[in-house]
Amino acid sequence: MLRKLMMAGVCASAMVAGSAQADEVEVLHWWTSGGEAAALNVLKDDLESKGVTWQDMPVAGGGGTEAMTALRARVTAGNAPTAVQMLGFDILDWANEGALGNLNDVAAEEGWDDVVPVALQGFGKHDGNWISAPVNVHSTNWVWISKAALDAAGGKAPETWDELVAVLDAMQANGLTALAHGGQAWQDATIFDAVVLSLGTDFYKQSMIDLDLDAIGSDTMKEAFDRMATLRSYVDDNFSGRDWNLASAMVINGEAGMQMMGDWAKGEFLNAGQTPGEDFVCIRFPGTQGSVTFNSDQFAMFEVGDDRVEAQHLMASAIMSPTFQSAFNVVKGSVPARTDVPNDDFDDCGKKGMVDLAEANDAGTLFGSMAHGHAAPAGVKNALYDVVTAHFNGEYDSETAVEELVNAIDGAL
Ligand code: GAL
Repeated sequence: MLRKLMMAGVCASAMVAGSAQADEVEVLHWWTSGGEAAALNVLKDDLESKGVTWQDMPVAGGGGTEAMTALRARVTAGNAPTAVQMLGFDILDWANEGALGNLNDVAAEEGWDDVVPVALQGFGKHDGNWISAPVNVHSTNWVWISKAALDAAGGKAPETWDELVAVLDAMQANGLTALAHGGQAWQDATIFDAVVLSLGTDFYKQSMIDLDLDAIGSDTMKEAFDRMATLRSYVDDNFSGRDWNLASAMVINGEAGMQMMGDWAKGEFLNAGQTPGEDFVCIRFPGTQGSVTFNSDQFAMFEVGDDRVEAQHLMASAIMSPTFQSAFNVVKGSVPARTDVPNDDFDDCGKKGMVDLAEANDAGTLFGSMAHGHAAPAGVKNALYDVVTAHFNGEYDSETAVEELVNAIDGAL
C-alpha cells in the first residue's frame, strides 16, 4: 500500500508540477519548544524523504489552546490546513462537525485496529471510521527532578505525598526554587491531574472522567486544592505566564529542584544534552505509581479536496510506521501509539513509560488526562482550567474552589 501511495504521490507531483502541489501537507501544530521542534523534525524529514513537502504552521502555546483557536479561525474562513495536531475530545468535536477526512483504507491495509491501544482508538475513530493517526502517548503524572538537587536533599526520590513535601522543603532550604512552574492555566491543570490521581484512582475516575458532581464537591476535592496550595508555596514569585519549557530549563540549569509536567519535558532535558539517571530523575507523581493519566497527540486530516488525499494518506502511513514511532518518540519524550514497537532505543524513563502504560491498561488504572483534553470535552476542561488557576493564584480558598468547580462543571455539562 505504502509503495502504491508513494508512486501515486510521485505521479501526482509530476502531473501538477508548478501548480497546486498534490504532494504537499500544511501542518498546524504547537510544537515550538526546543525538544518539541527536534521531534517535529523527525516527522518532517521522514515525510520529505517520501516526497511529501511540509508547509509549517506552528502556533506557539503549550497544551494547544492557542493552536485550537487558530484552527477554528482557519476553518471558519474556509481554509482548513491539511493536517492538524490534536488531542482527544477536540478530534471527536471536529469529526462531529463533519470536517475530517476518512483514513479507513490506510488503517485497514496496515492493521491499525490490531496494534493501536483501544484507549487511543476511542479518539482516533469516530462512528467506526478512522479519522486521525496517533503519533504518541504522553502522560501527565510525572515529576522531573534535578539529580544534583535531589542528592543535596538526601538522595531519595519521594514516593508519598509527605516524602514529596519533605524533599521540597529540603530543596528550598538549600536555596533553590523547589518547584519550577509556569503560571498558565494548562500547566496548573497538568499538576491538578496528578494531584487528583494521587488521592485515588476511583476519585480520579469519578471526578474527572464520570464528572460525578458529588465527587467533584467532596472533601477529597478540598484536599486536592489544599495540596495545590501547598505546592504553590514552593514556586518562585516570577512564575506568572512562564512557558513550561522555561520552567524545565530552571531544573536543567540547576536553579530549581523539580518540575511536575508531562513527559514532553523529557524532550527538553534530552535536547539540553542531559541523561536520565545521571543528570535528572523521572518519577511518577508520588501516590500515583501504577496509574497513568494519558494524552495522545494525533494528526487529524481535514477534508481539503481530493487532490490532497494522497499526501494525507502518505502522512498517516508514515506516522504509523513502527520504525518512525520509535525514532520520533525517543526524541519527543512520549511512548509509541502502537503496542508492537520494540523498546530498545528508549532510555530508562521511556522504558518505564512503556511498562507503566501497559500495566495501567491491564489494571484498569489508565485514564484520560483532564488537562490535555482526554477526560472531557473542551467546555468542561476550560471550566476546570478557570477554577484551578484562580485557586492557584490565591483568588479562592480551597473550600470556595470546590464550590466554584461544582458550579463551573455543572454549567458546562
Ligand atoms: C501537550 C502535547 C504535547 C506537548 C505539550 C506541551 O498537550 O500533547 O505533545 O507538546 O502539550 O506543548
